[in-house]
Amino acid sequence: MEKLVALCKRRGFIYPGSEIYGGLANTWDYGPYGVLLKKNIKEQWWKTFVQERDDMVGLDAAILMNPKTWEASGHVTNFSDPLMDCKNCKERVRGDKLIEEKFGIEAVAGKSLKEIGNLIEKHKIPCPKCGKCNFTEARSFNLMFETHQGVIKEDSALVYLRPETAQGIFVNFKNIIDTTRVKVPFGIAQIGKAFRNEITPGNFTFRTREFEQMEIEFFIKPGTEKEWFEHWCEQAFKWFTDLGISKDKLRFRAHEKDELSHYSTMTKDIEFKFPFGKAGKKGEKTDDMWGELTGIAYRGNFDLSQHIKFSGQKLEYRDSQTNEVYIPHVIEPSFGADRAVLAFLINAYVEENLGEEGERTVMKFHPKIAPIKIAIFPLSKQLGEKAKEIYDTLKKDFMCEYDDSGSIGKRYRRQDEIGTPFCVTVDFETEGDQSVTIRNRDSMEQDRIPVAELREWFWKKI
Ligand code: GAP
Repeated sequence: MEKLVALCKRRGFIYPGSEIYGGLANTWDYGPYGVLLKKNIKEQWWKTFVQERDDMVGLDAAILMNPKTWEASGHVTNFSDPLMDCKNCKERVRGDKLIEEKFGIEAVAGKSLKEIGNLIEKHKIPCPKCGKCNFTEARSFNLMFETHQGVIKEDSALVYLRPETAQGIFVNFKNIIDTTRVKVPFGIAQIGKAFRNEITPGNFTFRTREFEQMEIEFFIKPGTEKEWFEHWCEQAFKWFTDLGISKDKLRFRAHEKDELSHYSTMTKDIEFKFPFGKAGKKGEKTDDMWGELTGIAYRGNFDLSQHIKFSGQKLEYRDSQTNEVYIPHVIEPSFGADRAVLAFLINAYVEENLGEEGERTVMKFHPKIAPIKIAIFPLSKQLGEKAKEIYDTLKKDFMCEYDDSGSIGKRYRRQDEIGTPFCVTVDFETEGDQSVTIRNRDSMEQDRIPVAELREWFWKKI
């Protein structure tokens, strides 16, 4: 992780937030390559789950919502973590996380505040900062960020920053049914920011207080949940592997009954092996830690029913063929965009020994998500005009970078570190044969390709 965090900073993927003011804990800013990587990941998600499907529409709802939304959704009463303070060093900890890190997630599932406190006491689980076991009682801490809408700071204007994008979808269910031609089964997809006042953020961008989600609420006929749940588990997993995440770094983990959220009766997480160096499942020591990337939850008709109750609106569906009226059930695949970016970064990071040529660090991103697709080099500055011409043509279709400084070897290493899959070199033969050399990032093999065929060649490869 240390090497990756250093590379992210050095090469402009991810910077610590507000750095010139000494930072703001656990905030991160995506730099020039990071923003491209994240944008590509979000675009691939949208393409797979919205553009290429016939049963999905998109949405971009507001972050600030009527506070009744969060009463209906259960977040005002249920969305909290067990918070404890170390009496010795004042460190603030999540009681459930202390138990989870020692005994695995099963040990903490469904435990009350009191039971969490008792377990920590019984096993003398130490404070991660000072090592003592002397905590205050566990108390419930709501994770929603509060702010005030309007110029007068009064209670009536209290609003929350949304803790999930999902509710923006549910409150627009009726609008979408009334204004589009969707028919159950269908889904609504949304990408956007969510905010949670996490007690223990950390592990780089894995858990932050401001993050982006990519969520789908897929509305189905009651009774068809098993097949659709399976469908979404498969599709979500496939999305990661199609974009190059190796299968051995991914696994499914079904939630235990008493670990399920207040709205769900069936949830599976897709987990990724993060190199965080913490305790693994059931407490075994390992250098990796399985962490949640995506959750797929069967939410029944909990949300729509709650919004019917709280808003008084009719959020039902009428089957136009049978005239049957019902409240659809929901399968929810929920992805974290920042966590996906982190997993793709970790998955791509490779150090290779090239023998006499030394070592190289290379980010083996799938070409579809690589920030820069093609780098164009003139072998010598004299060849700049021809190289620029090629660059100006290719940049209309692909994110390109032009580089004419340093040796070709150095330029390759720079592109390897940011994961550029192809480098094009314009050399002294180009004028004569109207061709260029394309060097492949992973195999380091070179192809000689006519300039006139470049565009098509890259379309096929990327
Ligand atoms: N609507 C369901 C929902 O929000 P969740 O499991 O709480 O479910 C979904 O969140 C995904 O959002 C997670 O799988 C994770 O990828 C991402 N996520 C949640 N909290 C996060 C945080 N504090 N920082 C970064 N990503 C987070």
